[in-house]
Formats: sequence, structure tokens, C-alpha cells
Amino acid sequence: MGFSAVIVAAGSGSRAGPGAAKQWRMLGGKPVLRWSVEALLAAGAREVVVVIADGADADAAKALDGLSGWTTAVGGAVRSKSVQAGLQALSGPDDEPVLIHDAARPFVTRVQVEALLAALEQADGAIPALPVADTLKQSVNGHTLTASREGLWRAQTPQAFRKLRLVEAYAGWSAEADPTDDAAVLEAAGGRVAIVQGDPMLMKLTWPEDFAMAERLPGAARVTRVGQGYDAHRFGPGESVWLCGVEIAHEATLIGHSDADAGLHALTDALLGAISEGDIGDHFPPSDPQWKGVSSDRFLTHAVELLRAKGGRVLNADVTLICEAPKIKPHRAAMCQRLAALLGVDVGAVSVKATTTEGMGFTGRREGLAAQAIVAVEMPR
Ligand code: CTP
Ligand code: MG
Repeated sequence: MGFSAVIVAAGSGSRAGPGAAKQWRMLGGKPVLRWSVEALLAAGAREVVVVIADGADADAAKALDGLSGWTTAVGGAVRSKSVQAGLQALSGPDDEPVLIHDAARPFVTRVQVEALLAALEQADGAIPALPVADTLKQSVNGHTLTASREGLWRAQTPQAFRKLRLVEAYAGWSAEADPTDDAAVLEAAGGRVAIVQGDPMLMKLTWPEDFAMAERLPGAARVTRVGQGYDAHRFGPGESVWLCGVEIAHEATLIGHSDADAGLHALTDALLGAISEGDIGDHFPPSDPQWKGVSSDRFLTHAVELLRAKGGRVLNADVTLICEAPKIKPHRAAMCQRLAALLGVDVGAVSVKATTTEGMGFTGRREGLAAQAIVAVEMPR
């Protein structure tokens, strides 16, 4: 049987300092919430319900841009109410395993999910937990007492249950205090909770300094990748050319299926190369009439969207235009601005250069022009 997941992200993150609530903040290049949504979907979740505060839909849409398989539910004033709202929103069968997870714990792994689901076969609930390693002190009237840590564990999330069992346990919860995790609710209902080996990487982001620590964990590790692209177009009768998203008056135009912007085509191919997504012809076949005459902005934007969907971002890009004419230099600043806007980077991260081939070859004979591009991106490992 598959499993579904509820990720609670309706808290205000008051202990994590001022600014946006911690689930919307960036960690290792992407929003905190996105880490667990991606991880649980990749681990095979059939459905992920993200529980958010009322009115936070735009935050969620932005943080999870490009992902599918998730929906939202509106949370409550305390975590347990948010969990129950998430359980209500699930569409699966009553006995489907469900993982309840804190958005504030970004680094979930498939191994962890599989261990929890396996343990759930023999128990009513399964939780990841770590033995307490520090000596426990109780401070009473200025004096310390030492408490035994024997048999004490630190519970983490995700926690695994069968949906109806947890729903019923919540319905029967009568204690005055609010439960601090979901296993506590099942325990109170007489359920048996199995402990599986937790992971220090499942740490909860609670205080401002936790962000700095989390950035250094292997789960947040990013890789840098590069891609290169090349394109050439032939000159034909006309009055202007498009290069790097800028129209330049010229004694000829460039012939091509789209606007023949060789600069944008080379850069699009470079970006597709950096993320191993084939080439521009795979995504926009020249045989397809819908791309006839279109602005090549579309192609580059599509490649940027693919990169973002993988959790990546552009670091820098460098384009070389190879032609005797038109003169590129007067248009370089405008080109850099246009490329920066399309790539979503500062203009300082973009460079456009030009060279002639000293009258040699097809560019030297002014039969056409060529462009080369190289781009560096940063992505999750
Ligand atoms: N949570 C929730 N609904 C609430 C309170 C908390 O969905 N009413 C979620 C948080 O978004 C978080 C998880 O429960 O992912 C764990 O809670 P906690 O770490 O306490 O987060 P916050 O309540 O947001 O932070 P704080 O207590 O510092 O305000
Ligand atoms: Mg809280």
C-alpha cells in the first residue's frame, strides 16, 4: 500500500526571530517547506497535504512552484489542530499509512520513510527518535538536581500512523494540555508506538542559530554545474536582428524558425546542458508550427523554469557573439539587462562579449553569425 503525508506549516515561527515565518525562509537555496515536500514526494507519497495558516496560499504557491502532488489545508491555532485539519483533508482510504511531519524539519530521507513504514507493520505508530546523550538537570530554587536519562528519547518527525487510528485517537484526546507530538495522542488511546533510529539531520529549526547549523548539514549540500551552448543563423533580407533579447537595426535579418536570436538559443542550450535536459530542439521542435516566429525569450524562460523545478538557480552566464556586424558594443548593456531579467539574476552575474573572426569563415564572409554561451548553476546534490 502507498502512503500519504501531512506536513504542518501553519505556525508563526515566533522563536526563530523576526521576518517571514521559518517555513517560508530560504535554506540551502530553497524555501524550508520545499525540502520536505520534495523529499516526501520523491519517497513515493501518493498525496501531500500541506497545512498552512489562513491566507498563506501565495506563500505556499511560491515555495512549491513547479511541484505537483500537493494540496493545502488551513491549520489551527496550535499544532495539534493543524494536524487534525491535515488529516481531514486527506483523500485516501482509512487504513492508509500517513506520515505526519513538521515543515520545520527539512531534511527527511527516503531511508527514514521506509524504516517508519516498515515499523508501522508491527505497531500502531512509528516514530524516529534519538537517545538522550546529554546529562539532564533540573533546576529547583537555585539548586540543580540530576535526572536519569535512562530510557529517554528525543522524538522527531515524520511520525507514521494508520489514518483512521490517529483520527480516532485525536477524537478521544481529553487531556487539558495540548499534545506536543502525535505519538502522544496515540499512546493516550492505548496504541503501541515503535521507535526507529532517528537522525540528527531531522533537527527542528526552532531558534535563529538553527538556520546556520542546518546550512552546514550534508542534507543542504549544493553542487555547482556548468553547461555550454552554441548556435548559428544565416543572414537574409531584412532590417533588424534579435540578439540576446534585444532588437538591433541592421542591413539584414537572421533567418530561422523563431526570431533566430542565436544568443538566446546558445544560452538556452547552455542552461539545458547544465541540468541534463537535452537541447532546445527537444523542447521546441522546429517542425512544430506553434514556435514559428516566436520570441526566443520563451525558450530561455522555459529552461529557467526547469532549473527552478529542480531547486536550482543560475549563478552566472557568459555569452560570446561572433560576427563582423552589427556592432555589439553599443547594445551590450541592454543585452545584459535583458538576460539578467530572464535568468532571474543580478545584472552583474551576466556578461555579453563579441568578437569577429578577422574575415575568415562563414561569419567573416558575413553569411551569418554565431553565438556561444556558458552558464553556471547551483542545484541540490
Ligand atoms: N505548526 C502548525 N500550526 C500551528 C503551530 C505549529 O502547523 N498552529 C507547525 C509549524 O509550522 C512547524 C511545526 O508545527 O512546522 C512544529 O512547530 P514549531 O517548531 O513550534 O513551529 P512554530 O509554532 O511555527 O514556531 P514557534 O513555536 O517558535 O512560534
Ligand atoms: Mg510552536
